[in-house]
Amino acid sequence: MIAELGAAIVENGMTIGLGSGSTMAYFVEAVAKRINEEKLTVQFVPASKTIEQKALDYGLKLISIECVQEIDYAFDGADWIINKETLIKGGGGSLFREKKILLNSVQRFILADESKFIDRLSDSIIPIEIVPFGYTKTIHSIREVGGECYLRKRMDEEKYLTDNYNYIVDARFSGIGNWGFIHEQLKRIQGVVDTGIFCNMEFQIITLEKE
Ligand code: A5P
Repeated sequence: MIAELGAAIVENGMTIGLGSGSTMAYFVEAVAKRINEEKLTVQFVPASKTIEQKALDYGLKLISIECVQEIDYAFDGADWIINKETLIKGGGGSLFREKKILLNSVQRFILADESKFIDRLSDSIIPIEIVPFGYTKTIHSIREVGGECYLRKRMDEEKYLTDNYNYIVDARFSGIGNWGFIHEQLKRIQGVVDTGIFCNMEFQIITLEKE
C-alpha cells in the first residue's frame, strides 16, 4: 500500500533514484505496474545490486548514476526515522550508495510504516561502512568515539562485503542526543567510508495514516 502511494507520485519523463530493502522491492513492483498500464517513460538509478536485479526482473529502464546530471525524485526505505531530517539506514548494507543517490536528488521520499518511527533509542545500532585495509585499527578508532563494535558477518561466518567491496561495522551507541555530531566524529576516522546516519537532508515521509 505504501509502495503504491510512492508509485503514484512518479511522473512521466522522470529520472528516479531507487534505494534498497524490502520496501523498495514492493515499490519496484508497484511502479512497474503503473508504468506498464500508463505507458510512461521513466528511468531509474539503482542503489544496490539486489534492487538493480529486481528492477531488471520487472522490466524497468536503468541508467547509471554517472550518466545523469540530476535525479528528480529518490525513493527509499529506512531502518529508523528520527525526524524529517534524520534517518538511520544501512541495515541492508547499502548505505553509501543510498546516501549518494539521496544527496543527488531534487526530492527525497522515504516509504515507511509507523514501526520505523522513534523518538530516541537508548541503544542505537549504526551501520558504518569501512575500508578492509587496516580494519582492526579503524574499529579501534570507532570504539574510541564510544561505539561498541561488531564486524558484520554473513550466515557462513565470512565477513559481509558491501557492493563497494567494503566491510560493515554495526556500532552500538547509547543515548545519542546529537546524531550529526556522532556522524561527523565517525567520518573523521581514516578508513570510515560513510555512516548510516542520514542527516542534513530533507526527507518527505510517506506512511499510512493511523486508523
Ligand atoms: C539498506 O541498506 C537499508 O538502508 C534499507 O533501506 C533499510 O534497511 C530499509 O529496509 P526495509 O525496507 O527492508 O525495512
